Amino acid sequence: MSIQPIGIFDSGVGGTSIWKAIHTLLPYEDTIYLADSFNAPYGQKEKEAIINLSIKNTEHLINKGCKLIVVACNTATTNAIDYLRNTYKLPFIGIEPAIKPAALQTKSNAIGILATKGTLSSALFSKTSGMFANNINVIEQVGEGIVELIENGKLQSDEMKGLLEIYLKPMIDAHIDYLVLGCTHYPYLISLLTELLPSHVKIIDSGEAVARQTKAILIKNNLLNTKARPSKNCFYTNGNPSIMQSLLDSEFVVEYLNF
Ligand code: DGL
Repeated sequence: MSIQPIGIFDSGVGGTSIWKAIHTLLPYEDTIYLADSFNAPYGQKEKEAIINLSIKNTEHLINKGCKLIVVACNTATTNAIDYLRNTYKLPFIGIEPAIKPAALQTKSNAIGILATKGTLSSALFSKTSGMFANNINVIEQVGEGIVELIENGKLQSDEMKGLLEIYLKPMIDAHIDYLVLGCTHYPYLISLLTELLPSHVKIIDSGEAVARQTKAILIKNNLLNTKARPSKNCFYTNGNPSIMQSLLDSEFVVEYLNF
């Protein structure tokens, strides 16, 4: 067992959707969350830049004594997790678009994937898509501008609604019955997406699966904190703390940190 914290990072505030799932499943685990909002969005950057930012975030969390790191960002996972796993000794958990469950369950043989350019153009995404969705009509859509709006506190805005209407139209026209959320910022859009999509379309978000995997890897490595006591959860951003704070309950305090 280990009382060291779990480290979690994202290009910004979106990974808090993953933190929530982890905290719900593992309430005794201490956590440290880093939002690299100053450098968001990662999705339009080259692979090398994404790897370098992921190294910076990882080393910061290692210096804070983390026992395991959750890369709560599809873009960083699909571009940098192999490098991180090959470079550092501690376990890493990643997140990538959940194509497999959507491909296995679709009845209309058409699924939609909303993700960043960096995720959709990655070798890991092509591999997963080729493995599970070869005979399926996969409508890929880059969610350009969505992360920026969320990072600027415009989650509920006419601009957001307008972008989503444009991005969902080809998917609705292709009769998708599953929409895979391939970016950890997007779970915050679920109510708006539900409003805009036909009611039979199911939305797949991987937060709970990542939390279950985190628990399994902690157990496997003898790192689970079995002490039943309230946990300490630290949130740091190098952007505007109030935007991240608006996504969290007031008992969790977001601090500015230059990292
Ligand atoms: N939350 C990140 C992801 O899951 C957003 C990437 C970005 O900053 O563009 O991909």
